[in-house]
Amino acid sequence: MEAVSAHRPGWLTDARIASLRRWIKGSGKGTSTALAPFDALPTIAVPSCTADDVDAAADLARVAQRQWAALSFRARADVILRFHDLLVDRQDEVLDLIQWETGKARVHAWQEVLLLGTVARHYARHGHTYIADRPVRPAVPIATRVTEVRVPKGVVGIISPWNYPLYLGVADLIPALLAANTAVSKADEQTPLTLLWARALLAEAGLPEHVWQVVTGDGPAIGAAVVDASDYVCFTGSTATGRLVAEHAARRLIGVSLELGGKNPLIVRADADLDLAARGTVEAAFANSGQMCIHIERVIVHGKVYDAFAEALLAATSGLRLGQGLGFGYDVGPLASQSQLDKVSSHVRDAVAKGAAVLAGGRPRPDISPYSYQPTVLADVTGDMDVCLGETFGPVVSLHRVDGDEAAIAEANRGRHGLSASIFSTDTAAAEAMARRIRAGAVNVNDGAGLAIATVEAPMGGRGDSGLGRRHGAEGIRRFTDAQTVAVSRLGPLGPPPGRPIESFVALGNRQLKLLRRLRIR
Ligand code: NAI
Ligand code: MG
Repeated sequence: MEAVSAHRPGWLTDARIASLRRWIKGSGKGTSTALAPFDALPTIAVPSCTADDVDAAADLARVAQRQWAALSFRARADVILRFHDLLVDRQDEVLDLIQWETGKARVHAWQEVLLLGTVARHYARHGHTYIADRPVRPAVPIATRVTEVRVPKGVVGIISPWNYPLYLGVADLIPALLAANTAVSKADEQTPLTLLWARALLAEAGLPEHVWQVVTGDGPAIGAAVVDASDYVCFTGSTATGRLVAEHAARRLIGVSLELGGKNPLIVRADADLDLAARGTVEAAFANSGQMCIHIERVIVHGKVYDAFAEALLAATSGLRLGQGLGFGYDVGPLASQSQLDKVSSHVRDAVAKGAAVLAGGRPRPDISPYSYQPTVLADVTGDMDVCLGETFGPVVSLHRVDGDEAAIAEANRGRHGLSASIFSTDTAAAEAMARRIRAGAVNVNDGAGLAIATVEAPMGGRGDSGLGRRHGAEGIRRFTDAQTVAVSRLGPLGPPPGRPIESFVALGNRQLKLLRRLRIR
């Protein structure tokens, strides 16, 4: 047997591994094995699927779609609700897998369970209201009837990343399935086991065999095949890869939703409660070691409170416990991989070389685990530094001093991203008014990052380089459908009746236009 990381969960026996691997479609060409962030030793090998494997998986999904769509919404929702209950009951297993594959602190793994459970419940209970048939006022009253119908896209391709492998891997799948699609998911190279665990759990919840296909393997090698085989693609990851996916989808004229990176700002107004602002910043900047699309990387502070806020932030940061291993005993785990560590280290090194001040952290912690990095607070960051407007995706936050709301809004809107933002202020009306002027898909007031995304009835997504389309809410399920208009005439064709002068038909039409205008109807 291959050497494996010493942190492999005890319950993950060879038999369990075989039962997870069974869900991978295709035997691939060779295998690949991720390294566990706790000790940089191999986890479990999975096949490197090929483009042919992806095609075969999509063919099975396409056949299964007809039967799946023939079920009632209620029958599909029952599967999702059973999945919800199993997820809550069996969470310890998936928390172990998420920690082992990503290195994150257990509380942040648990947040994936919480969020996914909430999404599952919401769409299973209310999803039908977003996609139900809708009667539309017809062009000709009484004689005609028109209905807006939502039809499934067919096979949805899902390409998801490693940072939230359970939530980002399954939260888009659920509305896709409820809207009567089937799906092909490409697991991230770093986190295949978590996705396979979810696949096995959905089978236990009663999902028919071929409705959800999972392939493993290298993104650049088979990502295009997933786009080619799908009728719609749901991508979460980097802006650079998202652009490739969108270009490829454009050639096929299929829709995409793209949830990409951010460089998310948090504004501290002069009237903010500074302890709350510091707590919100620490949560939003350092959760999951900063490897979260909506996490805060820039803090924009009013000059009057800058020094007091910096002091509160440093105090809160110094209270964070770094650690590693399965279990709840620490707040910040290692980064997920060597490439994440390299990117974070290079952003900080570049900033320091160009004159930034390190107020806290600023160093790796190989004594804790190979990819650990200290929660880091920078000041004096200028536009020539990579860390200024480029996504770090790590536990690094920069402080920027401004002299008022206008300057804060201008600073927040710098750069090309627009995913999430936050404002701390005791004047919530003023903060709400500011929120509308910030280019971001969501703005939290007096919360760092979590409130908007936890509210699953509200749309979540990016503007600018942060993406296209939305998950959650109405759009989060409607995107997996095409609108179809079904128009029924009780009197036959609408055109001029045969044998009458066209002029009288036109005159009748004109009288109708004027009448409707006078009656103020539409
Ligand atoms: P990535 O965008 O390369 O990977 C995301 C997913 O896309 C993975 O499943 C990967 O296998 C797949 N992929 C890779 N190349 C592909 C291609 N040519 N066609 C289709 N799919 C492809 O991101 P990566 O390399 O894991 O992380 C790099 C940076 O991206 C991070 O440091 C971070 O800045 C950002 N990122 C943002 C995320 C977010 O939640 N918005 C999630 C992950 C990464
Ligand atoms: Mg990549």
